[in-house]
Amino acid sequence: MSRSYGLVVETDKCLQSYNSLGLLSVASHFCTASSIAHILEALAYAKTNQLDIIPLGGGSNVVFASDLRCLVVCISLLGIKVSGTDGGTPNSVAVRFAAGENWDHAVRYCLSQGWYGLENLACIPGNIGASVIQNIGAYGVEISDRFISLSAVKTDTGEVISLNKDQCRFSYRESAFKQLLKDKFIITDVTLRLSITPIINIDYPALKHYFADHVGDISSEMVYKAVSTIRQSKLPDPDVLPNVGSFFKNPTLSASTLAKIDSKYGRTQGQIPRFEQPQGYFKVPAGWLIEQLGLKGLRHGAAGIHDKQGLVLVNYKSDTDDDCASDILALARHIQEKVFATFFIQLEIEPRIYGSV
Ligand code: FAD
Ligand code: EPU
Repeated sequence: MSRSYGLVVETDKCLQSYNSLGLLSVASHFCTASSIAHILEALAYAKTNQLDIIPLGGGSNVVFASDLRCLVVCISLLGIKVSGTDGGTPNSVAVRFAAGENWDHAVRYCLSQGWYGLENLACIPGNIGASVIQNIGAYGVEISDRFISLSAVKTDTGEVISLNKDQCRFSYRESAFKQLLKDKFIITDVTLRLSITPIINIDYPALKHYFADHVGDISSEMVYKAVSTIRQSKLPDPDVLPNVGSFFKNPTLSASTLAKIDSKYGRTQGQIPRFEQPQGYFKVPAGWLIEQLGLKGLRHGAAGIHDKQGLVLVNYKSDTDDDCASDILALARHIQEKVFATFFIQLEIEPRIYGSV
């Protein structure tokens, strides 16, 4: 362990309790940053010691495929406050969340304050900082729908800058931080515009179904409860069965690509379900494709495909020394090959993979 000013850097740190897949990777260097000053110290430490930096939140969207020579920086900046910088509508409030705040805690806190618009994103694991990296989305809402701006530290210069919505280039499970700006920033806070009157959005099929027999008004608290109940019914709790949620993105296909697939597959097996997107594109549920192939419940070594949600790969052996990461990645490849062979669709892995595969 070494100390540079306020920052404590540990060496050979096991990351098992820092990733929701429970993988046993060891980081050569590890520290916790609870202020911008800590982040700047971490950047300087990494530069001096020629280490790559991995900013880490809740570890619920990463796969540590091997031991890592790097400085893992656990981002732990805390605080939620109304920001005075919103030029928005009178019906809204701009709220600034520090990057280390737990996402679901933040959603519940906002509900308790009468700040609405995040209920559909209930119970998503992880922290505020990473929520913008992949533009988290669920039950008909994405964080980009509420986003105003963020602050971040540039990893090369240490400069603190602000980025607006256009600069973040959000789309489904995407942002500039996975493309052009990959690894270039450590996010320190995110400002969202929330409504001071309830926004009830129950258009997503599972939510519509949940409230089908409901008579009377629906409150934001009821939407939070509904999302939480639906999620519990199909997604495994990482504390019980380690996982990173969806292992693949839902593919977005053009109408002409889908028509070609329909002409080959649909003729004999029935039409692939699809959800219309802007500009003539369609989102296809990858979980459905995996289920059609009879792969749900399949196991490979330590890895398995969850029996209630085909998109989720789980680690059955996080309590052993087995090489679980290679089983998970081999199973992911197997799914990709099977889906491609039948549907001619290339599934894209959603979590970020670190280390050598
Ligand atoms: P981490 O796993 O810690 O990090 C993810 C990536 O972001 C890494 O590359 C990391 O380096 C980077 N990063 C983290 N913090 C920062 C920062 N401050 N600055 C710069 N880079 C940073 N996602 C959805 O969108 N919708 C869902 O419905 C959903 N359901 C899930 C259900 C389960 C059971 C699980 C396990 C996961 C689910 N996820 C879902 C995925 C995951 O929860 C989200 O991607 C979440 O935002 C990840 O947050 P994290 O803090 O755990 O990120
Ligand atoms: N489906 C199946 N079999 C399965 C899974 C799904 O047939 O094994 C079908 C469902 O019956 C439904 C459709 O696929 O008709 C969509 O299913 P669901 O509503 O469960 O959503 P999803 O597309 O499987 C996505 C996100 C989830 C998010 C939910 C709710 C992606 C990659 N995944 O899953 O996000 O919670 O919608 O909005 O977009 C995550 O990213 O980790 C995650 C869990």
